[in-house]
Amino acid sequence: MRSMGIDGYSVTMPHKARVLDLVDVVSPAAKNLDAANCVVNNEGTLTAHNTDGDGFVDGLKHDTGFDVADCTATVLGAGGAARAVVDALVRHGATEVIVVNRSPKNAESAATVGGEAARAGAVSDLASHLASSQLVVNATPLGMAANLDAMPCDPTLLGANHIAADLIYAPAKTVWMDAAARTGATVTNGLSMLVFQAATQFTLWTGQPAPIDQMFQAVEAALAG
Ligand SMILES: NC(=O)c1ccc[n+]([C@@H]2O[C@H](COP(=O)([O-])OP(=O)(O)OC[C@H]3O[C@@H](n4cnc5c(N)ncnc54)[C@H](OP(=O)(O)O)[C@@H]3O)[C@@H](O)[C@H]2O)c1
Repeated sequence: MRSMGIDGYSVTMPHKARVLDLVDVVSPAAKNLDAANCVVNNEGTLTAHNTDGDGFVDGLKHDTGFDVADCTATVLGAGGAARAVVDALVRHGATEVIVVNRSPKNAESAATVGGEAARAGAVSDLASHLASSQLVVNATPLGMAANLDAMPCDPTLLGANHIAADLIYAPAKTVWMDAAARTGATVTNGLSMLVFQAATQFTLWTGQPAPIDQMFQAVEAALAG
């Protein structure tokens, strides 16, 4: 990047952790997650950032108007995407984040990125976790590809006081989103997270606001094609 004058690039699997050893500065989010998704070259100083979680928070606001500050959220799943969401929810002021996952150990690990505001919750207690949450996030692959007909939780536990946010964007409406919408919940998919994590990268590289509308159009065209 230095010798070729490259101002920035995106990083994806399997390089998200390894890249941290190759830069000069690591942002707080990237450090907390032990993973970066972009690098910025500022006059030869390379900084690694992770914009996935902020992309989720910004995308949620864009799609639903929901501000995560002071909310209680349940995150279903405990992989890389869930960790980024937990980190961002806490940084943006969520009061409590409950991580529920089929493997309890991974739930415990993912909750640690949220510090005192986050904790692991048992699958058997899901009904009470959801009853106390305004936001429910599907960060599992249930609803996509090989799991098209699967749901991350019983949708009848949701209702009009919930935002049900699926990180999946293909299909655009998962069976869980469809069922959750029928309970009166506000539903949204992962397309806005994809666009806004990239928008934040664009701004980090250029100092300019990102062309959000054109980015949505481009990704929608790509997914349709
Ligand atoms: N919108 C976006 O920009 C964006 C960005 C990143 C990811 N995503 C989406 O987010 C989802 C998760 O991605 P990831 O990278 O975090 O994946 P990951 O690291 O592989 O984690 C997957 C999580 O889902 C759980 N899981 C997997 N299969 C399951 C099953 N059959 N039943 C119950 N739980 C199951 C895993 O549980 P265990 O811990 O027990 O294995 C794990 O906690 C994917 O759908 C991905 O497409 C979207």
